[in-house]
Amino acid sequence: MSFPINRMRRLRTSDTIRNMVRETHLHVDDFIYPLFVTFGQEKRIQVNSMPGVYQLSVDKLLPEIEEIHSLGIPAVLLFGIPEQKDSLASSGYDEHGVVQEATRAIKSAYPELLVVTDVCLCEYMDHGHCGIIEPDGTVNNDASLELLAREALSHVQAGADIVAPSDMMDGRVGHIRKVLDAQGYTHIPIMSYAAKYASGFYGPFREAAESAPAFGNPKTYQMDPANILEALREVELDIEEGADIVMVKPALAYLDVLRAVKENFAYPTAAYNVSGEYAMVKAAAAQGWIDEEAVTLEILTALKRAGADIIITYAAKDAARIISG
Ligand code: PBG
Repeated sequence: MSFPINRMRRLRTSDTIRNMVRETHLHVDDFIYPLFVTFGQEKRIQVNSMPGVYQLSVDKLLPEIEEIHSLGIPAVLLFGIPEQKDSLASSGYDEHGVVQEATRAIKSAYPELLVVTDVCLCEYMDHGHCGIIEPDGTVNNDASLELLAREALSHVQAGADIVAPSDMMDGRVGHIRKVLDAQGYTHIPIMSYAAKYASGFYGPFREAAESAPAFGNPKTYQMDPANILEALREVELDIEEGADIVMVKPALAYLDVLRAVKENFAYPTAAYNVSGEYAMVKAAAAQGWIDEEAVTLEILTALKRAGADIIITYAAKDAARIISG
């Protein structure tokens, strides 16, 4: 049956009808808000390429957390900017490291807010790569696993609710699971950055986290943007190793990957709406070229429609305000 019996426009005549037949609903419970915690005190430093995003010292974190909490955002994802960087990322697993201190501060003030910690070495390495560098410049996979597991354990000991390894070393999910379990943390979930691409969209993040690689690039560990079958193998391996939530990152240019991951594994699936995606919207909106609210909701809705259960986004506060607005 077709026109004139069928008229698709009948169900588009009013907000009420459109709301009734809407297939995808964004909810504030979907969001995780990333935060950059820096060393020192009294710091609230605007990240140039990410308007609205700040590097915050632990003492300046609580007003931010209060705002996040009052908007109903259920979770934050912590990144650390340490005072000292070295070739073994030692401040990454220091019990008094920035992420560890921030986790304690947040959990004691807002115990019900979920603290997810990014587990990676790049922010703590003097060279900005996600693993230990050999004299010939290559990244040593297996030696890096020990440090990643130490870092994850120290986050959990500080009170982290979920750990999120983002390094893309092979075997890290299994290794972290083993170490957490051996220490009695069998109940702590792992959200793995399972399909993480070597992407140009991380540019602003590397300014925010002060983690740009000093030489080379991450292509020996992060994925080639051209590949999707490889993403499915990455996700399958992480699930076998014990990942509880699997992530696709970046999000917007990888909606097909997101959909395929959701359909193939039916696992809780996260999408990371990364720094460059956020910066593009902010930049175009500042020029008056796009409607920021409309585009923000459209992007986040698209991620959910494509299969995301969880959306990690710097726009979480903006979106929460619009949705509840
Ligand atoms: C650390 C990490 C990165 C991001 C999240 N965790 C950067 C990178 O891999 O270079 C990027 C997040 C963003 O761009 O918003 N490994």
